[in-house]
Amino acid sequence: TTQLIIWAAIGYLMGSVPYGMIVARVMGLGNLRQIGSGNIGATNVLRTGSKAAAALTLLFDAGKGAVAVLLARALAGDDAAQVAALAAFVGHCYPVWLSFKGGKGVATFLGLWLALDWRVGVACCLTWLVAAAIWRISSLGALAAAALSTTWVMILTDGSTFLLGVVLTLLIYWRHRENLARIKAGTEPKIGKS
Ligand code: G3P
Repeated sequence: TTQLIIWAAIGYLMGSVPYGMIVARVMGLGNLRQIGSGNIGATNVLRTGSKAAAALTLLFDAGKGAVAVLLARALAGDDAAQVAALAAFVGHCYPVWLSFKGGKGVATFLGLWLALDWRVGVACCLTWLVAAAIWRISSLGALAAAALSTTWVMILTDGSTFLLGVVLTLLIYWRHRENLARIKAGTEPKIGKS
């Protein structure tokens, strides 16, 4: 258990780095809190107009989830990898550095799944892409990918990550409360528009 607690802490710290804010600041794109949804993720970075900054944010936010999982698995095994995955996700959504007001976890979710089980990761990325292509709404891509993720776990794996998948899905829906309300109201912005 001590080892799992240590990996929870490492995963949290890795996940809590708000790369979107850092990228936006370094590239001189302004304060994300005053742009679009105010979120710190790649979708909102795209609303600054910089595709490069959005791509970098996606890469770093996914990468921190993947690296946390790969490190934990290599050094401490599969249970530690699942703990690090959840901790990195929670770190992104509730970072101590931003008074626990972080992001929505989608990029980190995709990255951690790619590292935990690449088949589930690829299936979730494809789900995001298909849903986003149909509706042109980033949050709908995320909500579709989260909703189907546990189905992919059941179909594609031995199911050992099923409980983690359920928890991550619930957290993604919880973090997208405002998006869900906007989707219902028909006011959720399309990708590439503010
Ligand atoms: O990655 C978060 C995405 O699903 C929604 O972002 O900025 O449109 O709330 P945003």
